[in-house]
Amino acid sequence: MKGLILSGGKGTRLRPITHTAAKQLVPVANKPILFYAIEALRAAGIEEIGIIVGETHQEVREAVGDGSRWKASVTYIQQEAPLGLAHAVKIAEDFMAGDSFVMYLGDNLIRGGITDFVRQFEDSRPDAMVLLAKVPNPSQFGVAELDGDGRIHRLEEKPARPRSDLALVGVYLFTGKIFGAVNAIKPSPRGELEITDAISHLIDERMTVLPHVITGWWKDTGKLSDMLEANRIMLDDLAGSAVEGNLLGDTQIQGRVVVGRGTVIENCTIRGPVVIGEDCRLARTFVGPYTSIGPSVTITGTEIEHSIVLAGSTIEELGGRIEGSLLGKNVEVRRHQALPRAYHLMLGDNSQVGIP
Ligand code: G1P
Repeated sequence: MKGLILSGGKGTRLRPITHTAAKQLVPVANKPILFYAIEALRAAGIEEIGIIVGETHQEVREAVGDGSRWKASVTYIQQEAPLGLAHAVKIAEDFMAGDSFVMYLGDNLIRGGITDFVRQFEDSRPDAMVLLAKVPNPSQFGVAELDGDGRIHRLEEKPARPRSDLALVGVYLFTGKIFGAVNAIKPSPRGELEITDAISHLIDERMTVLPHVITGWWKDTGKLSDMLEANRIMLDDLAGSAVEGNLLGDTQIQGRVVVGRGTVIENCTIRGPVVIGEDCRLARTFVGPYTSIGPSVTITGTEIEHSIVLAGSTIEELGGRIEGSLLGKNVEVRRHQALPRAYHLMLGDNSQVGIP
């Protein structure tokens, strides 16, 4: 069995962060979302992984490399434009070379992994299997309707009037039969080859498509609130504390806190769950629960909680508290003394600032 991770797309809902970074590389608990997908595939015993890349292929290649870090072999498959999930399957046909495979959307996070799902597929040998979860807002997803035998009866992509509350999670298991289906379907009204149409085609051809319903947490990450929720969930899974940096002066560490090598923390209170990367400098600062601070970040004289700060950023002498925020790479936020006493901003396109 092989793996196929989709890591193309533009990530428009996470701009400006995604002006310069692929959305699948935005870190959650200091680890890119995409790496969780690779780990989930490896945990299920899959070693050969194809990654579909688009415009942001360069940085995905740089971040993942040849996969040897995970003892996996990674092959990149370039998609010339985001023409749909079924199109991504289509261009992966040569790579699959007749093998069954797991397709994993690189912006989905699934707590608890996919090993049970893969085992059920191997035991029951259907033509395809889909991962489902009950959601309160099914019309924002692909929606599955089951028949009396517990098979998939019908799938609809983002229906206005959903027939069930079972959404398609972004992980699918396919045999080679899917290639006939992706070649048979036509683009949807949004101009994409939809994977739901391809799976519906399998059902119409009387093939067996089985569901696997998960009850654990999962998220199709896309917006700031999703990233913060994902960060919360992943930090909740921190097993314990691991402090490699230097704690100086009156620094208090409360709860589960991870501090990377080379980081210096002076006269701070850090209340976990929190992860702080390598080579950071924190002074006179409170870091509250559910905060992930990337490497080489400086924070002085500030309170920060429930936030994600990416590599190389600086926050100095704010006095007040930052909450529910996502700061990109090399962002600078400072209190300044110069007159006039006004907000001095240089914000990228699509930036968002909230001032109390
Ligand atoms: C895609 C699928 C949809 C599925 C969702 C899960 O939607 O088309 O059926 O429920 O992923 O993340 P998209 O995020 O591309 O709109």
